[in-house]
Amino acid sequence: MTSNSETMESYEIISDGIVSKIDLIRVPNKFIPEYRANIPIIDEGMRAILTEVRTELIREYPQKIQMLSETSGPQLKIEFLDLVQSKLRSLVPGLADETYIELSATLLHEMFGIGVLEILDSDPNLEEVVVNDSKSNVMVYHRKYGWLESNIRIESENKIEGFAEQIGRKVGRQITTLSPLLDAQLANGDRVNATLYPISKHGNTLDIRKFRAEPWTIIDFLLSKTVSPELVAFVWQAMQYELSMIVTGGTASGKTSLLNVFLPFIPPSQRIITIEDTSELVLPSFMQWVPLITRQPNSEGKGEVTMLDLLVNSLRMRPDRLVVGEIRKKDDAQTLFEALMTGHSVYATLHAETAQQVIKRLLSEPINLPDIEVSNLDLVLTAFRQRRTGVRRVLELAEVTEHYVAGKVELKTNNLFEWKPRDDTIERTINVSQKLETKLELYSGFTHDEIKSDIIEKQKVLGWMVDKRLKTTNEIGLAASLYYAKKEELLNLVESNGDSSKLETI
Ligand SMILES: Nc1ncnc2c1ncn2[C@@H]1O[C@H](COP(=O)(O)OP(=O)(O)O)[C@@H](O)[C@H]1O
Ligand SMILES: [Mg+2]
Repeated sequence: MTSNSETMESYEIISDGIVSKIDLIRVPNKFIPEYRANIPIIDEGMRAILTEVRTELIREYPQKIQMLSETSGPQLKIEFLDLVQSKLRSLVPGLADETYIELSATLLHEMFGIGVLEILDSDPNLEEVVVNDSKSNVMVYHRKYGWLESNIRIESENKIEGFAEQIGRKVGRQITTLSPLLDAQLANGDRVNATLYPISKHGNTLDIRKFRAEPWTIIDFLLSKTVSPELVAFVWQAMQYELSMIVTGGTASGKTSLLNVFLPFIPPSQRIITIEDTSELVLPSFMQWVPLITRQPNSEGKGEVTMLDLLVNSLRMRPDRLVVGEIRKKDDAQTLFEALMTGHSVYATLHAETAQQVIKRLLSEPINLPDIEVSNLDLVLTAFRQRRTGVRRVLELAEVTEHYVAGKVELKTNNLFEWKPRDDTIERTINVSQKLETKLELYSGFTHDEIKSDIIEKQKVLGWMVDKRLKTTNEIGLAASLYYAKKEELLNLVESNGDSSKLETI
């Protein structure tokens, strides 16, 4: 380290008992700061012993080993670690307890996991861990600092391929030269993508997108200023009265997270069906929620269940609200908008940079929906991640409006909220709502003033929820549900600034 390197932050992470100190270091003349993982070093002699233990275990417990390589049961893991430790203690007695723990966890990671990457994978501050090839260091995406270069390198292309195969085995799929792409969701929720050389020209790649154990909540996003109280109250009202919404934004801008934090505001009397490729959405446990997940075909090309299959099927399941993780294909978009036409409330994410571009994408090739169908969409909420700072904000909330030009319908968007980067605030624009308010008046029976005071009331409830730091999706869902079922009692609790534990007793 040169004298003017600067340590930005240090912390410890624990992975199956292996404790590693992490230093985040800004290095002069380097564009990307360093993620230095101080992981235990295992010398040659000890490696030889681990190899011996491995051979013995495969010989003595073939069934257990087979099961561990195909599943990921925590109990099996513990049994394995115990076995390795007792073998090590008899082979090399007298080491420190933590050394046995480190060695057994290392063998576990090598045999059934993704080796040293398991350690990075257990850092809750990381969103993503990527291997680009065996010639460069593993890169990580840190929640606070963005991309960092780690001091870890996977030493050979074979080894990266081995990890990809290992991941494939756990999800019942194969990655081979003939089928060199793998996309999978692991039992812990992580999403993994792997590609093999020469499809990836520089070498084999691995991309691990980590699943957050604790999903984001609207309270987190209010506290981090990703959203503003008035905007949340506005979307809440729109959701209450069954208006439909698409959440858009660039890659990893936070679309799915943003959609998810609003779902607890759906009235609890309604039946919700969610459709996703990988399971990311989480709703309060007391809601009537049917999550459906697509399936890729197996290695013989059988057993595929597509998003379209699920969409068509879901319409026979009497949903009040239909939520689609991400619209990608023409057929999916068409079916979704047909559902919208036939009176379902629909929520989805779609990749685009702005509300304008959402409309354009829906209307042009390859999706090519007719204007009349797209005009049924009420709101577009745009997520945005500033590349430089990594800060995530709602960029805009727009309503979709129709204009008649020379006897033809033309769709436009009307921004109702906008993020002002200069003051970092999300503000109600001066634009008057052209369609939404008429629709709301129709659905809710409210007058213009009542719509306004309803938003103020919701903001009060949200203010209390933030003040009391409601934590879980369940708690937030409970407060939202009481707002519908026992409004007076909830408002009394809010007015009297009562404790959140009282929610249970209302
Ligand atoms: N407002 C936010 N603040 C901090 N991190 C966020 C926020 N929204 C999303 N994230 C994180 O960013 C990553 C990408 O989010 P995700 O919702 O999956 O994006 P998208 O659906 O646009 O690809 C995830 O790791 C998620 O936890
Ligand atoms: Mg997403």
